[in-house]
Amino acid sequence: MLAISRASALSPTASRASRGSEPARRRVAVPARAAATARRRRAIATSSSRDRRVVAPRASSSSSSSSSSSSSSEAAAAAAAADDASRAPSASSRRGVLGLGAAALASTAAARVPLAFADDDVVVASPSPAAARGAVLVTGANSGVGFSAAKQLAARGERVVLACRTVEKANVARTAILEKVPGAAIDVLPAAGLEMADLASVSDYAKAFKDSGIPLNVLVCNAGIMAVPLGHTRQNHEMHFGVNHLAHFLLQDALVPALRDRVERDGKRGRVVACSSIANTLGDLAVDLDDLDWNDRTYNEWTAYCASKAENVLMTDQLAIREPGISSNAFHPGIVTTNLVRYILPDLTAENRDPEAEAQTRNGKMLKKMGIRDADEGAKTHVWLASDPAAEDVSGEFFIDPGVTYPGATRRQLVDGGDWFLLTGEEFGARQLGMPDKLFEWRNERNGEVLWDKSMEMISKYRA
Ligand SMILES: NC(=O)c1ccc[n+]([C@@H]2O[C@H](COP(=O)([O-])OP(=O)(O)OC[C@H]3O[C@@H](n4cnc5c(N)ncnc54)[C@H](OP(=O)(O)O)[C@@H]3O)[C@@H](O)[C@H]2O)c1
Repeated sequence: MLAISRASALSPTASRASRGSEPARRRVAVPARAAATARRRRAIATSSSRDRRVVAPRASSSSSSSSSSSSSSEAAAAAAAADDASRAPSASSRRGVLGLGAAALASTAAARVPLAFADDDVVVASPSPAAARGAVLVTGANSGVGFSAAKQLAARGERVVLACRTVEKANVARTAILEKVPGAAIDVLPAAGLEMADLASVSDYAKAFKDSGIPLNVLVCNAGIMAVPLGHTRQNHEMHFGVNHLAHFLLQDALVPALRDRVERDGKRGRVVACSSIANTLGDLAVDLDDLDWNDRTYNEWTAYCASKAENVLMTDQLAIREPGISSNAFHPGIVTTNLVRYILPDLTAENRDPEAEAQTRNGKMLKKMGIRDADEGAKTHVWLASDPAAEDVSGEFFIDPGVTYPGATRRQLVDGGDWFLLTGEEFGARQLGMPDKLFEWRNERNGEVLWDKSMEMISKYRA
């Protein structure tokens, strides 16, 4: 939220919806824990810009990784979308950790988030939980980073609900995870598919989840589409806006009360984790709060994607303000070989490729060196934000790796993750130009509020 408080000059597009003075800050009752977080965040704000958003990752216990569970790539689209990420925090990132406790954590030899699964790894999960045990609900859990996040969370002993477009897809994913993680606690809601292009389906799914009686610990808003030709959801919203943002907005609206309950259930904060993209840095060009459905502008599939990924962050930022009792963050998973390119490079989707064999080729090795991630590596920030204790007290941030926020990442962190093209602010003239913070001028409280209010109006008939 530092970017929010600093960002005052709005882009022409964003400012159309954002004219008027910044409203008075919403008054909220802040629980003790959230108040501590707020105090810490103020402390962060007064530290140097380089270090202020680095949070220590924590050592953890599951296996290490490499294989990909699905294929294809946003890589080919990387230049166009300026879309990417980085790896686990390097030694230099650890210099920026907050406080002594965090520094102690970061200095442990294994202060990296574990990845899943070499190909033949089988991880025996902890025994199936009691019915009352809380769960992590993952949207888009049948493919790409969503599938891998579900698998890795299961391997860490989390109970996971697979929220997929159809029950069949969810069951296939469940079987695949159980092969890798025998005994994993994986739930599929019977007779409840989650079609994100239809608010009625999202509403039904949310109701079915509530009826299931499964307590909710974490909501992972992961499902997404990229660069699809102009299309509309069942309620006639532009497809990126409708699927990537609005459906998740409805889901969080329905499930936040359950997340609030977590603190009473097990003394921990509920969490919302949204998979955005570094493509959101084009938000100033892309977000038009007066034309969320692209009725008045010439449609561009990339700009529409960038807008929806900025909206993911505006939503989690707002949620962090409105719900201080839960933790709410967004992140970029890196450039990951998944099915996301199905609309632009169909030959590169999972059905048409063998990612494991490709990883052994010269090209595959080169991609790896360039920082292109496989799905298991791409899911590590999902896993960290959803399950690591170090992420519990962080809210309203945008991460590019476990414990690493952007802006705020060092060159080393960016290079490690393949995000070498992003600015740190140390480049010649960058600081004078206000970079990279200027890339986030869209990310301000006023835009978040306008988006929130408009989204609320759009979902009003479907609130579950
Ligand atoms: N891959 C990257 O390089 C990259 C970079 C930055 C951000 N991201 C973000 O990562 C997230 C996951 O993408 P991915 O790369 O893992 O791609 P993916 O393999 O294509 O997975 C996307 C998931 O979203 C689901 N989904 C899409 N439209 C849906 C709908 N209308 N209803 C229900 N589910 C729907 C898909 O379900 P179906 O299989 O049924 O279609 C699939 O499970 C996205 O939010 C994306 O923006 C990815």
